[in-house]
Amino acid sequence: MSEKIFPRHIAVVMDGNGRWAKKRLMPRTAGHKVGASNFKTICQYANSIGIECMTFYAFSTENWKRPKEEVDTLMSLFAEYLRDSVNFKSENIKLCFIGDRSALSEELQDLMAKAEKESADCTGMRVNLAINYGGRDEILYGVKNICKKVSAGEITLDQIDAEMFDKSIYTADCPPLDLFIRPGGEYRISNYLLWQSAYAELYFCDTLWPDFSKKDLDKAIEVFAGRNRRFGGV
Ligand code: IPE
Ligand code: IPE
Ligand code: MG
Repeated sequence: MSEKIFPRHIAVVMDGNGRWAKKRLMPRTAGHKVGASNFKTICQYANSIGIECMTFYAFSTENWKRPKEEVDTLMSLFAEYLRDSVNFKSENIKLCFIGDRSALSEELQDLMAKAEKESADCTGMRVNLAINYGGRDEILYGVKNICKKVSAGEITLDQIDAEMFDKSIYTADCPPLDLFIRPGGEYRISNYLLWQSAYAELYFCDTLWPDFSKKDLDKAIEVFAGRNRRFGGV
């Protein structure tokens, strides 16, 4: 039997919480609660099957446009889950955050720093949780990091290449993105991992995020294993 091609780094857009709740005549925030709990389930499962890294989209730079009440609930949910993040440590999962933290409350920023510190030595899967994350924002962040080095005379323009850019953005220490999964029935990227997805395999499914199960993840990995990645070659 030929060896299965396993994705090293999987991205997930956790979309469909609102519609999941609406279908059940519940407030959208109820969908976010179930979605947050599913995040944990999928993390634990992915870690158990040996995935090296996963990056979950929790809140985009555009999600501030939502009603204040929904944004507030999402922020409290993040805080609630982080207070409890010791769970990740016991699972040997390394938790990291990507996105612009400066717009978040001080309490949330502290919890994020604490969760990262506590799980820093974990050797299992690395989980990136994207909060106030935008792909364009990340590209600008990378550009600014590099510009600072140029203006300080540490590097020259000619030294700038894709490898350096990779190292200048939020996912600097992560393996290349292999598989991009979007549940929830929308066929778009929504400003997620724009730089990293250059050659990622895209997988869309209609299942709403709160219903996305271990089996759904298995199916996406199976489909990935059957894809022919050419990276521009033949
Ligand atoms: C994803 O679910 C969660 C966030 C964007 C924070 P949505 O809230 O977008 O759910 P739908 O797409 O409206 O169903
Ligand atoms: C993408 O979902 C962002 C997250 C899941 C965090 P959205 O619901 O915000 O995306 P659009 O608005 O449908 O493109
Ligand atoms: Mg949505």
